[in-house]
Amino acid sequence: MMRTSNLEEGERVEERQRPQKIEDLCSVDCCSRSLVCAILFGGPNMSFTSSSVGSGGRTVRRVFEFGRTYVVRPKGKHQATVVWLHGLGDNGSSWSQLLETLPLPNIKWICPTAPTQPIKVFGGFPSTAWFDVGELSEDAPDDIEGLDASAAHVANLLSTEPDDIKLGVGGFSMGAATALYSATCFTLRKYGNGNPYPCNLSAVVGLSGWLPCSKTLSKKLEEVDDARRRAASLPLLLCHGKGDDVVPYKFGEKSSQALSSTGYQNVAFKAYNGLGHYTVPEEMDEVCAWLLSKLGLEGISS
Ligand SMILES: *[C@@H]1O[C@H](CO)[C@@H](O)[C@H](O)[C@H]1NC(C)=O
Ligand SMILES: *[C@@H]1O[C@H](CO)[C@@H](O)[C@H](O)[C@H]1NC(C)=O
Ligand SMILES: *[C@@H]1O[C@H](CO)[C@@H](O)[C@H](O)[C@H]1NC(C)=O
Repeated sequence: MMRTSNLEEGERVEERQRPQKIEDLCSVDCCSRSLVCAILFGGPNMSFTSSSVGSGGRTVRRVFEFGRTYVVRPKGKHQATVVWLHGLGDNGSSWSQLLETLPLPNIKWICPTAPTQPIKVFGGFPSTAWFDVGELSEDAPDDIEGLDASAAHVANLLSTEPDDIKLGVGGFSMGAATALYSATCFTLRKYGNGNPYPCNLSAVVGLSGWLPCSKTLSKKLEEVDDARRRAASLPLLLCHGKGDDVVPYKFGEKSSQALSSTGYQNVAFKAYNGLGHYTVPEEMDEVCAWLLSKLGLEGISS
C-alpha cells in the first residue's frame, strides 16, 4: 500500500549522475550511498528567497528550491505531526520508508527534501542540504541564512496542521542540527533574521547531530520575554553513537550540555556504544518510547 505521496506536482526535475563518488568528496556526512545529483528547476511556488550582500557590495540572491516532500499518514487516530529531516545528500523518501515501519500509529510524518545547493565541504559541488557546511569544527561559522530558510520551510509544513494536533521536528545529522535550530527559534519566538517563528513545538529529536549557534544562545534567551519558560518546558531528545566518525560524539554531548546549561530543562541525551553515523533499531525504539510519552500519544491500542 502506498502511504507516501508527493506534495509538489508539476516540478521539472533533472537528474544526472554525479561525476565522482560522494566518498571521495565527503568529509562531513556520508549518509547517502545512492549518488544521484538532482538539480531542481521548479517554479517559484515552493521557493524561499533571501538577499545578502556579496563581495563588491553587490546583492547576491540565494534561492532555496526545496525538493519533494513525502508524507506518511497516521494508521490510527491522528494526534501529532512530526517533520523529519534527512542528512546531507539524502532525501525525504528514504526516511519516510523507515518512519512508516515504526509503531507510532498516531503520528503523521512529513519528510521534506532539502534544496540542492553548492556545499563548501564538497568544494562547491551541489548536494541536498538544509544549509551550507564548511569544515565541521566548533568555531566554523553557521550558515544562518540557510538555517532560517530550512526552519521556515519546516514551520510552513507544520503551520497548516489543525490546532489540536501536537507538533514536532526531528532529524538525522544536519537534519538534527536543523531540528535543534528550530527548537531555538521556537523558544526565542523568532528566526535568526528576526522574523517571527509561527509554530508551537511540543517535541524535538536530534540523532547524530549538533546544535548550531550554541555560543550565542544564552545571551539571546536572556533578551526575549518568556524564552526561559519555553526552553524549560520543551522536551528534547538527542541521541549519538560513540563510534560516529562523521559528526563526532563529543559534538552531540556538548550540544546537549549547551542546551541544559542555557535553561532547557527537559533534555534527554542517549549514547550508543559502537554506533557510527547511522541509526539502529535500538535507537529508533528509544525515539518511539520517548515520542509516545512526550506527545501523550494513545499508541497501538487506539
Ligand atoms: C506557481 O508558479 C506558476 C509559474 O511557475 C504560476 O503560474 C502559478 O500561479 C503559481 N502558483 C501559485 C499558487 O503561486
Ligand atoms: C533517495 O535517497 C536514497 C538513498 O538514501 C536513494 O536510494 C534514492 O534513490 C533517493 N530517491 C530519490 C527520489 O532521489
Ligand atoms: C502558541 O502558544 C501560545 C501560548 O501558549 C499561544 O498564545 C499561541 O496562540 C500559540 N500559537 C499557535 C500558532 O498555536
